[in-house]
Amino acid sequence: MVQAGGSPAERTPLRRSAPARRDPSPEPALRQVMAQFATGVTILTVGGEGAHGMTANAFTSVSLDPPLVLCCVSRAARMHSSIVAAGSFAANILASGQQHLSRYFTDWRRPDGMAQFEPVGCTVGARTGAPLITGALAWLECEVAEVLDGGDHSIFLGRVVAAAREAGEGALVFYDGGYHHVRGRARAA
Ligand SMILES: Cc1cc2nc3c(=O)[nH]c(=O)nc-3n(C[C@H](O)[C@H](O)[C@H](O)COP(=O)(O)O)c2cc1C
Repeated sequence: MVQAGGSPAERTPLRRSAPARRDPSPEPALRQVMAQFATGVTILTVGGEGAHGMTANAFTSVSLDPPLVLCCVSRAARMHSSIVAAGSFAANILASGQQHLSRYFTDWRRPDGMAQFEPVGCTVGARTGAPLITGALAWLECEVAEVLDGGDHSIFLGRVVAAAREAGEGALVFYDGGYHHVRGRARAA
């Protein structure tokens, strides 16, 4: 049972005699709880006919050998059918100064297809054809290894076929519903 906030007293289990109060849906509380988990921010991209980009923070490393990552994409997102059709995607890990890109790739008014990447500097990934965003801290090109049921999302397990980090400094972080900036040391690529 998800409980959002409340004093320790409020979190004490209810006594038997008290009528159980059930939240009809745990979703709002779950959102508030998960908002306490600070994450990086990625733009997932797909190239080719179903070219598309989408902001995602449900992204994580899974395995080094074999090299696997996963991302979770809403079944309602256009990105879902793009990844399924392409069988591949790239994850671009945003740098501190790229908050505007995170906002852009959640905005439904952005154009469709490759046109949405025109205001954004990109190169084309050699292995997947997915746009790789200029100035990102790092990127990974992935082939979809498996699609798992994740409720209203699908979990795309991606086999990493190419990856690189750039010389960027500082990460964009999403925490408690807002953007934050983490400074880092400048390093050679
Ligand atoms: C910081 C942030 C992280 C997000 N993470 C995800 C995510 O991991 N998975 C997802 O499906 N949507 C995520 N979203 C929402 C999508 O970016 C948003 O619904 C997008 O408009 C869907 O795009 P599409 O329908 O054009 O593919 C996130 C939004 C923000 C602002």
